Order: sequence, then structure tokens, then C-alpha cells
Amino acid sequence: ETSTPGRAHARIGIIGGSGTYRLPGAAIKASHTVETPYGPTSAPVTLAELAGRDVAFLPRHGTGHSVPPQKINYRANLWALKSLGVEAVLSSSAVGGLRVGYGPETFVVTDQLIDRTWGRTDTFFDGTTAGVRHLPASEPFCPVLRTLLAAALADRHLPYVAQGTVVVVNGPRFSTKAESAWYVSGGADIISMTQYPEPVLAAELNMGFANLAFVTDSDTGHDGSEPVTAEAVFARIKHAQPNILAVLEATIAAIGDDYAPRPLMDPAAVTGIMALPVSG
Ligand code: ADE
Repeated sequence: ETSTPGRAHARIGIIGGSGTYRLPGAAIKASHTVETPYGPTSAPVTLAELAGRDVAFLPRHGTGHSVPPQKINYRANLWALKSLGVEAVLSSSAVGGLRVGYGPETFVVTDQLIDRTWGRTDTFFDGTTAGVRHLPASEPFCPVLRTLLAAALADRHLPYVAQGTVVVVNGPRFSTKAESAWYVSGGADIISMTQYPEPVLAAELNMGFANLAFVTDSDTGHDGSEPVTAEAVFARIKHAQPNILAVLEATIAAIGDDYAPRPLMDPAAVTGIMALPVSG
């Protein structure tokens, strides 16, 4: 079913990572193709009811994993969610674990990031359509949403770490042993190809953002395991879907009516971005 854009509203957004292409268990209400000033989103936005809340769901790699990490239109995805009224975004990611304590099958509530991507447009304030702004990014993930994710993991007795620094690489290739060791020496705990620039783009639009990471591998094999392959990542993340969805659902149920994202950006600047003409 497709309904008219503009009438739909959802306070909570979900960006699904590898393996999370739909929301089983949610009552699907509509599928919207949202037009944005930045071109097309990864997929139509699914509007659904989950845990009694209106949610807007976008699979970041498209419905059949057709969009590679370095080609995702991150700005279109975040703008589309904001245009539907989203205030809180939860994302899921398959990640590699880089050190002891972050082994396969562990969930991580990411709290810091190191950006090693290149060539991705990572701001709405690019000095052309929107002028120049400098976003504070010392705490790139919303502490309130992170606490709710950790509580949902604890309630389900799932193995998890309540904090972790993610290094985000451009992909699509995996890392060399030397790169992996270098990231560890620089303080990274986990490694991803897609956890940047989503959090900073969400923050530029004054949306709260938190990430639920699931460790699928030990990257180049620091623990003696075989180096990561895409097949291993997909097999592990597929198997984890019921837990990922249950944790997201419980977190959504716990987001209070009084939830307010941190106003990191000047609200007038956000209004300006949301008023830009869509490109059709
Ligand atoms: N996603 C899942 N595992 C990964 C790894 N080892 N490196 C980069 N991205 C990943």
C-alpha cells in the first residue's frame, strides 16, 4: 500500500543494517517513497506500528542489500526520517570485534566513533544550499537512547557491552591485519562500514540517535579465528535477527513521551534544511 506523503507521521525511526530489511512483528501501515532535496533514499520508508508506537523504518542497504556502504545516500535517509516527524533514531549494525571483550555474538551499545571513511557527504551544512555550521560531536550518540538500549539487552540476558568505540572504514573491502592492529592501538573496539555519517547527520537535524551493534566476526582474526568474510557476517547477522528486533522493540516501548533529543544544532538552521525544495 502506498499513501500520500505529508500526512504520515512517526516519532521513532529505525535504520536497519545488514540482515535487517523488514520489521517482522510490526503492523505495517504504508510504504512511502519520500522525495528529498538530496535524491532518493535507500528504499521506500515503511510506516508501521511497533510496541504501540508509530515508527518509520528504512533498510540502509536497500531492501535486498543492493546499496554498498560507500554509496548509501545518508543525507536523503536522515532527511526523509526527519520529514516524517522522527525525533529518535535507532540503528542496527553488523560489526567486527577488534579485541577481547568484543567477541562474536556480543551486542555493543556504541558510544564513540572514529571516522576513517572518505568521499561521503557528511553534512547538511555544506556551504551551498545551507550555509556553514559546526556541529558539536564530542558525544555523537544520544545518552538517553543508549541507556534504554542497554536496559533492553540486560532484560533479555543477552551478552552485551554498554559502550564501545567504533572505527568506521569506507569498505567495501575488509581491513588488512596492519590496519586492524592500528585501529586497536588508536582505541577502537569494533569496526563497521556504515556507522558514519548517520549519527552526525541525525544530530545536525536535532534527532537523537543510538546504535545497536552486533559483533559478527573478529575482523582479521586477533583471537585466532579465520579472517572475516562477507558470508560469515551474513550468516551470523541472519541468526541474530530475532534478538535484534526484540531489543529494538523493547527500546521503542521504553522511549517516554517526554523524550527530547539534545538540541545540538540551532533550531532555525534545522528548519532551513527541512524547507529546502525536494528534487523529485
Ligand atoms: N561489518 C561486519 N564485520 C566487519 C568488519 N570486520 N569490518 C568492517 N565492517 C564489518
